[in-house]
Amino acid sequence: MAHTYISWLLLTLSLLLLLTTTKAKVPAIIVFGDSSVDAGNNNQISTLLKSNFKPYGRDFDGGRPTGRFSNGRIPPDFVSAAFGLKPAVPAYLDPTHGISDFATGVCFASAGTGYDNATSSVLNVIPLWKELEYYKEYQNKLKAYVGTEKANEILTEALYLLSLGTNDFLENYYTIPTRRSQFTVKQFQDFLVGLAGNFIRELYALGVRKLSVTGVPPMGCLPLERAANFMGNHGCQQEYNNVALEFNAKLGGLIAKLNHELPGMKAVFANAYYILYHIIRRPSEYGFEVTRNGCCGTGAFEMSYLCNQQNPFTCEDASKYVFWDSFHPTEKANHIMADHLIPRLLAEFS
Ligand SMILES: *[C@@H]1O[C@H](CO)[C@@H](O)[C@H](O)[C@H]1NC(C)=O
Repeated sequence: MAHTYISWLLLTLSLLLLLTTTKAKVPAIIVFGDSSVDAGNNNQISTLLKSNFKPYGRDFDGGRPTGRFSNGRIPPDFVSAAFGLKPAVPAYLDPTHGISDFATGVCFASAGTGYDNATSSVLNVIPLWKELEYYKEYQNKLKAYVGTEKANEILTEALYLLSLGTNDFLENYYTIPTRRSQFTVKQFQDFLVGLAGNFIRELYALGVRKLSVTGVPPMGCLPLERAANFMGNHGCQQEYNNVALEFNAKLGGLIAKLNHELPGMKAVFANAYYILYHIIRRPSEYGFEVTRNGCCGTGAFEMSYLCNQQNPFTCEDASKYVFWDSFHPTEKANHIMADHLIPRLLAEFS
């Protein structure tokens, strides 16, 4: 009897040990995408789409403009902190940071970019394929810094965030005639989802296993689109919201498919549409007062260089606003969206 009990105990203990030692930890947050997650890479390139001047960053640590398109932190920063890592994920092209910082988190995102190469060309920003080239360079630097074995462990266990798509529609499809002459909007959605699939397969081939993919927000409710909605009394542009919902559904389908197709891949679809839509519809539940306009300037059209210190209309307290400029959420809205997503990420990946 005692003998059986002890072997049972030993078995249980070794199982417990196995469980705790194989319980994976996330050693780094690695980010690809557009301005929703760009931590300042556009500061270093020649584009008009920048935000490394005040009042951007006025509520960031030290009141410092970093190149984030907000008054403070953006969602990857909150995700990083929630995993016990740095409170802010640094931009890969930021010369004040090096591989020792990037070993626990790095951002390759570029404001204005999209899945489609034609999107990044509009404002001369970093195309997605180039973000991937930077990532490959980073892999080599990390191997040189911590050794190949440790680097491979970090790269496999890291949580990767991918967030883009809005610019493909608003900056490209609905602004430049080329893609519109080639595709209906539904065909364009399929084209983008195809590109997203190719990109995720390339990430997988490079060793990526833990991935969170964010779809597009209710694009028709961005202040810039509402300002342009003269016919609709500056309400949300329903067509853009419908396109966002359709695109997100297709992207979610892709993620489900890739989880089956790629062994060991664990990808989640981190849909931010509904939470942001809910905030916009019921702002007072979250302590907001203004949803239609951004805080910066008149809030109707200002972003990048038009959102600057000379603009006399900028609001005093950004925490009353859902949007910081005409296109990007305030730190408070970013925080709420991130907090909505984080429990799921912690449950899946840590
Ligand atoms: C985007 O451009 C890169 C570099 O020129 C090229 O390798 C890639 O095939 C292009 N992607 C598409 C979908 O055209």
